[in-house]
Amino acid sequence: MSPTTAPPAPVRLARLRWWDVADVAALEAELFGPTAWSAELFWSELAAPGRGAWVARTADGALAGYAVAAAAGADADVQTIATAPWARGRGLGDALLAACEQHAAALGATALLLEVDAGNAPARRLYARHGFEQLARRRDYYGPGADALVLRRRTGPPPPPGDATGEPDAGDGPGPTDDTDPGGRPA
Ligand SMILES: CC(C)(COP(=O)(O)OP(=O)(O)OC[C@H]1O[C@@H](n2cnc3c(N)ncnc32)[C@H](O)[C@@H]1OP(=O)(O)O)[C@@H](O)C(=O)NCCC(=O)NCCS
Repeated sequence: MSPTTAPPAPVRLARLRWWDVADVAALEAELFGPTAWSAELFWSELAAPGRGAWVARTADGALAGYAVAAAAGADADVQTIATAPWARGRGLGDALLAACEQHAAALGATALLLEVDAGNAPARRLYARHGFEQLARRRDYYGPGADALVLRRRTGPPPPPGDATGEPDAGDGPGPTDDTDPGGRPA
């Protein structure tokens, strides 16, 4: 399936607004447990510059998913992305990730980065479909045996021939930009 910003009916994508924060934080807690972002962290993300944030809801208002992206200069990051278990396997992850990609490109970023638990197969397949490639592996980042992968994809035009920055960095290169990454958990 090719990436698209059109979410699968009957779910509708909209900008994440202040009135969405309580629902988003509740789903986040359900999905990520002790490493979940708090409502306060979503609030501060909404207030920070360069952010793009979306929710997907059904016609009757049920929250199906959300994503937050941060763009700062050449790099942008997917800060968080998730869909409710009942909404999965219908292309919503695709649509939310495409929204992040379009946001990054619109703000002039040439690369989009994210962090994923190496054991998170569904998320890794989603990112692979969107052309993300591994930039670095952080061993035991989430605990013993639970590595984090830093993934990256280009969002702008390809670099000119001979531009060394077009190649993946060697070894444990820089992760998501420090000024945008709240850290501590995947994506
Ligand atoms: C990772 C995650 C966001 C994916 O969300 P999703 O809504 O299921 O994503 P999609 O529906 O776009 O894709 C999931 C699968 O459904 C398939 N699919 C998409 N639309 C489909 C359709 N109409 N019919 C059948 N299958 C479809 C996709 O091809 C994909 O298959 P694959 O996993 O075998 O490659 C979701 O699993 C999630 O929220 N996980 C928990 C939180 C998390 O891990 N977040 C990422 C942290 S880095």
